[in-house]
Parts: sequence; C-alpha cells; structure tokens
Amino acid sequence: MATAQSGFGFGGTGLVPSLAGWTSMGSGPLYRRLAEAIRGAIRRSEMPSGTRLPTERALAVELSVSRSTVVAAYDLLREEGWLESRQGSGTWVRRHSSVVRFGEDRAGFVGRATASFRALIEGPGEGVEFTCAALTAGDLFAGPAMARALEDLDRAARDGIGYEAIGYAPLRAAIADHLTRRWSMPTTMDEVIITTGAQQAVGLAAALYARPGDVALVEDPTYLAAIDMFTAAGLRLLPVPIGVQGIRADRLRDAAIASSPRLAYLMPTYHNPTGALMPARERIEIAAAANELQLPIVEDLTVADLPLGDEPPPPIGAFQGDVPVLTIGSLSKLLWGGLRIGWIRAPAPVVQRLARMKLVTDHGTSTVSQIVALHLMDDLDAIRERRRETVRERKAMLEGLLGEWLPGWTWDPPGGGLCLWVRIPVGDATSFALAATRHGVTVVPGPMTSVDGKFSDRIRLPFVLDPDAMRDGVERLASAWREYEAEADSAPRAVRIVV
Ligand SMILES: Cc1ncc(COP(=O)(O)O)c(C=O)c1O
Repeated sequence: MATAQSGFGFGGTGLVPSLAGWTSMGSGPLYRRLAEAIRGAIRRSEMPSGTRLPTERALAVELSVSRSTVVAAYDLLREEGWLESRQGSGTWVRRHSSVVRFGEDRAGFVGRATASFRALIEGPGEGVEFTCAALTAGDLFAGPAMARALEDLDRAARDGIGYEAIGYAPLRAAIADHLTRRWSMPTTMDEVIITTGAQQAVGLAAALYARPGDVALVEDPTYLAAIDMFTAAGLRLLPVPIGVQGIRADRLRDAAIASSPRLAYLMPTYHNPTGALMPARERIEIAAAANELQLPIVEDLTVADLPLGDEPPPPIGAFQGDVPVLTIGSLSKLLWGGLRIGWIRAPAPVVQRLARMKLVTDHGTSTVSQIVALHLMDDLDAIRERRRETVRERKAMLEGLLGEWLPGWTWDPPGGGLCLWVRIPVGDATSFALAATRHGVTVVPGPMTSVDGKFSDRIRLPFVLDPDAMRDGVERLASAWREYEAEADSAPRAVRIVV
C-alpha cells in the first residue's frame, strides 16, 4: 500500500476497491456513507497510517459523486481524527504520534477506551458522561468495616513487607468462598490470584496464552477496553457475532477451527455492552468445545454479581475439562472501582504461572486495598442486595427518561449488568456521539465495541448516574438528537470536532 512517506499516492482507481459497496454502508447522507467506508478501510488496515488519499476532485470523479460529498466526508474524518491534511500536501491517514504509542491500533489510534472514557484520563469535566459503567461507593466506607481493616492493616504491616504477587491470602480465601457459594463453582484459595482490577486480569490472561501476531477470538460486540488491550499486545482479533443469548457454541467452534485462535475471550454473564446472558446448556457446550479444540477460554464475569432478574447459571469455568477456563471477576461493580481489586480463578498451576507474570507487571496489588476489600466482604451479601436494588432503580429511571425524551430509541432488556444497548432509529452512532459532545454529553457509539466497526445503529448507555445527572444527561441527549436528526435530513456539512 502506498504511503505518504513513500511519496506515492493512490492515483487511478487505487482506493476504489476498498470502498466497494460504500453507498449502502451506514445510513444518512452520502458523505456519511463514504466516510464510513473509508473508516472501515482504515480499521481493516487496508489503508495504514500515512496512506495518501486521492484528491477530493479525483475521488469524486471515480465515484461519480459531487466534489462536495468527498469534501464533507474528508472533513468529517479529519475532525474525528482519522485523516490529516496540509495545504499543498494533500490528505493522508493520520500518522502515529511519536509520543502516544501504547494503546494505539495499527491505524494509529489511541485506544478506544482512551477516546471513550475521557474522564478516566483527564478527570471529571463539564457535562454528563454516559461512558463508564461504574457506580459511586455511597457510604460504603463509613461503616465499622474500616476500623477493623485499619487494625488488620497495622498488624499486616508490622508482620510482613506487603508484597504478594499472588494476592493477600485471606482475601484469596474470601474470594474462593464467594465463588463457591455465590457462583456455584467450588473453588479453593490456591485457584485464585488477586489482580489490579479485572482489567489487569484480562491482560494477564491474554499474555499467558498469546504472543504478538497470534489470534484471539472475541465476541462481536465486545468490551471495548479488551479490544484496546489485545490490540496493544499485538494480537489479531477474530470477531464472532453474538445473539440475544450470547455467543453460540457452534459458531465459536466453526471460527476456532477456521482460524486457530490461541484463546477465546467471552462474557457469558451479562455481556458488555449487550447485557446478554448465556444459558447453562451453551456454557457446557463451550467448555466441551474448548476441551476438544484445545482452546483456552477467558471468561470475564466482571458484572456477574449484578443480575436484574434471577441468578445466572454457573460460569463456564464450572464445566472445564483439561483445557483451562480462566474465570475473571472484580469487586469494582459490587463495591467500588477505586479499590482496583479483581481476580482470576484458574487451576492452581495456572495461577502460579499468572503470579510470576504479575510479579513482573506490578509486584502485586496494593495490600491496603486488599485488606479494605476483605473487611467489606464480611458484609458482601447485604451490600450485594443493596447494589442490585440501586441498579434496578437506575435502570427503571433511565428507561423511563428515554421513553419520555427519546421515544424512537429502543433496546432489548438486559439480563443484568449496568448498560442498555440502545438502537437509534436513523443515522450513524459515531457521528451522533460527536454531535452529542456539543451538547455536553458523552456516549460510547456501537462501533467502538466492535473490532471492525459494526453496530453503527447502537449506543451503549450505562444506568449508573445519580438521578439528577441522569435526567440532565438524557435531556442533553434529546436536544442533541433533535439537532442531529434535522441535520441528517439537510445537505452534507462538516461536523465540528469536540473530543
Ligand atoms: C467486562 C469488563 N471487564 C473488565 C472491566 C474492568 O474492571 P475493573 O474495574 O475491575 O478493572 C470492566 C469494567 O467496566 C468490564 O465491564
């Protein structure tokens, strides 16, 4: 592929094969469809960083559209950060920045989470963030557990140096007990390693099985920060579509046979972002397929403790054969994300290998956090019930507000978790998300959750905000939507960059 560095442009019909079928991509005016097609080609690495694009006039002639359509598409992509131009030098796919490298994908983008969860990096800003699916802790730390934790901390700090890559033993035992009782998955403490959040757990699990260039099977859509992490680790991702009951065992099997992935990363219990719940039958079949195909499964159950209805079936790990199933969990959604406590449940020898890898990464998760978490877990069942109550109320509130302010938006009821996977009736979720930022509200557009940018009719809306912020956020979304719908009907024009 020609690049700006090499000094060769596409010329002739070079770009056109990558844009095949562009008029039927996405929705809305032609310039948006063209932009979607170019975005897709960049995401698929058909146009790597630095690739020079044809002039607007040349592309317009090749595609038999007006020059203003190409101008508007390039403007949009420039403003979204996909393209760069300089007067007299033309337009090219944005090059890698020499400063920000970690988390960039092959098209030169800083990770999806970086783009979507702005507040995680820059701190809280103006407006309403419908991006992070996490709750505040409320009065969690105001009770007597903290006094007990401080005493324990004093003792632990006098007796030990506080470095334990595998995790603080009493917390490992408490997590093993939680998995045995609550998740119907008999577990001993030597099958548990504590991690710095589920986020680190996902990274460690992937690094255990895959090297740069290896293939990892993921659901489509999937957890967007997992896409970042796997991409940053140099893995190639194999997206497999899911249905209302999550990924199907036969699809997983077919994809695995065709592409030999090194691992499969799944969210069977309240999939993020769709909220899908995989039935027990499918879990058993997936464990069997994993065994037969020698395919390690990494199941991420970060939100499994937040069912909206009945309790879920046991994790896939409960049915594992000889091939390991790594079951990831977290206290971030049940207690507080600021604790940064997650875990991996795996066969004891695998836990030992993970501990060696974690040692290299960070020498161990904060013992202070682990001791605090341990004491909060004394009251876990009651905390869990209160959390579920809060989550149910907020879900009902978000659904009510959307019904009132955005009646054309629809969604399937999630089985659990913290998000609605909302279908917008017209337009393109990525450009709507950009438009929404002008109204002081941020959302995650569906394509962010998809390896090759599908789900342009979806946005992910967590139901975690407190009532005032949630109402404010939905009203802002509604005014953004009114403007966006009107604009979608009008002539092409550039959308101002805000993120
Ligand atoms: C599916 C999934 N995995 C992992 C994480 C990261 O969780 P943690 O805060 O425990 O690192 C999240 C956070 O939202 C998540 O939704």
